[in-house]
Amino acid sequence: MFVVVGVTGGIAAYKTVGLVRLLVKAGHDVHVVPTDDALRFVGLPTWEALSRNPVTTSVHDDVAKVRHVALGQAADLVIVAPATANTLAAMTAGLASDLLGTTLLATTAPVVVAPAMHTEMWRHPATVHNMDVLRTRGVHVVGPEDGVLTGGDSGPGRMSEPEDIVAAALALVERPRDLEGVSIVVSAGGTREPIDPVRYLGNRSSGRQGVAIARAAADRGARVTLVAAHLDADVRPDPRVEVLTVATADELGRTMDAVAPDADVIVMAAAVADYSVAAASEHKLRKQDSPGALTLELRENRDIVAGLVADRRPGQTIVAFAAETVADDAELLERARAKAARKGVDLLAANAVGWTRGFESAANALTIVDAAGAVVASASGTKDETAHALLDAVVSLRSF
Ligand code: CTP
Repeated sequence: MFVVVGVTGGIAAYKTVGLVRLLVKAGHDVHVVPTDDALRFVGLPTWEALSRNPVTTSVHDDVAKVRHVALGQAADLVIVAPATANTLAAMTAGLASDLLGTTLLATTAPVVVAPAMHTEMWRHPATVHNMDVLRTRGVHVVGPEDGVLTGGDSGPGRMSEPEDIVAAALALVERPRDLEGVSIVVSAGGTREPIDPVRYLGNRSSGRQGVAIARAAADRGARVTLVAAHLDADVRPDPRVEVLTVATADELGRTMDAVAPDADVIVMAAAVADYSVAAASEHKLRKQDSPGALTLELRENRDIVAGLVADRRPGQTIVAFAAETVADDAELLERARAKAARKGVDLLAANAVGWTRGFESAANALTIVDAAGAVVASASGTKDETAHALLDAVVSLRSF
């Protein structure tokens, strides 16, 4: 595989030496593109010797071969490690001031960045904004890790280990295209049930797991529709995914009913309110109208996924989720089995939640059971990893 490794000016560049070695040892054709600043940390001969390919930083070298775009066009994968705050800002702005900039603009290959910087810089609103934009464009981010930084300070900012960056990057390009031609609808996020024009009943779902499933399905070649209830601000759907935005359980239900007939696979990852306010007020509720206490009458919402199962067309695979507060793994499994049977779904992915687990984090652990209650997979890791584990289960179910 033709892999471009962009190296930018941070002390972690010394770790990228190991990253290049790993890729070369695995048999890849590695082309290193250091920035001028990166060469102050690790010199050009090191990169040439390790990659066994010529290394330049300038857009004016090798002009006859149109090198400023040729590398990007030829690449199957681009890794930028370390990615400094400055480079991430340049990528966000689309700057093409050096060979790495032009290469990044010219490529359509997956791009993986491994940020490395001091914690303050990582948390600065400018960097946070840049990372959001890059993620929205489909750039994959590995790390940074929490740990001791060069100044002796510590916090998030350390570049991930070369093994982890290489594994994450190769997993992207080596992903099977086993959902090619398959149409998949994923619901995600938490519904909001209005109480009055300014208030609602909601839940803590961030939408991260559902959005990760939608992206993973797109990576594997599926046509994806995401029915998005409320998503946290930093959770951005992949640009390849068609997004239908909904607010309430009722709207989510109507939208799912409309898109389900064309779907081969439906994944109900949304956290749907079980109840909505029987009569939402047309005006903002005032304290003086309910002194001391306020009683809201809640009415049960219909079970959307049960309706989809009832109307399921032949060959359609339906997956539900269950977020449960449980004492242990045995109780999680027992609840998962009971819920899968009650809903009549093909697969049910259960995860344990609590005051401090399961919601805002990037990591998750899923136990996946089939209609008969058999455990078909247990997966833990990033929400991208658990998303792929779920899709593996879908693919193997559909291939029988
Ligand atoms: N779900 C749904 N419609 C609802 C409630 C839930 O389609 N009105 C879906 C969710 O998207 C999820 C699955 O059903 O895929 C399980 O959701 P959960 O809230 O755990 O199930 P409930 O049926 O509400 O079960 P309980 O409240 O008894 O735990």
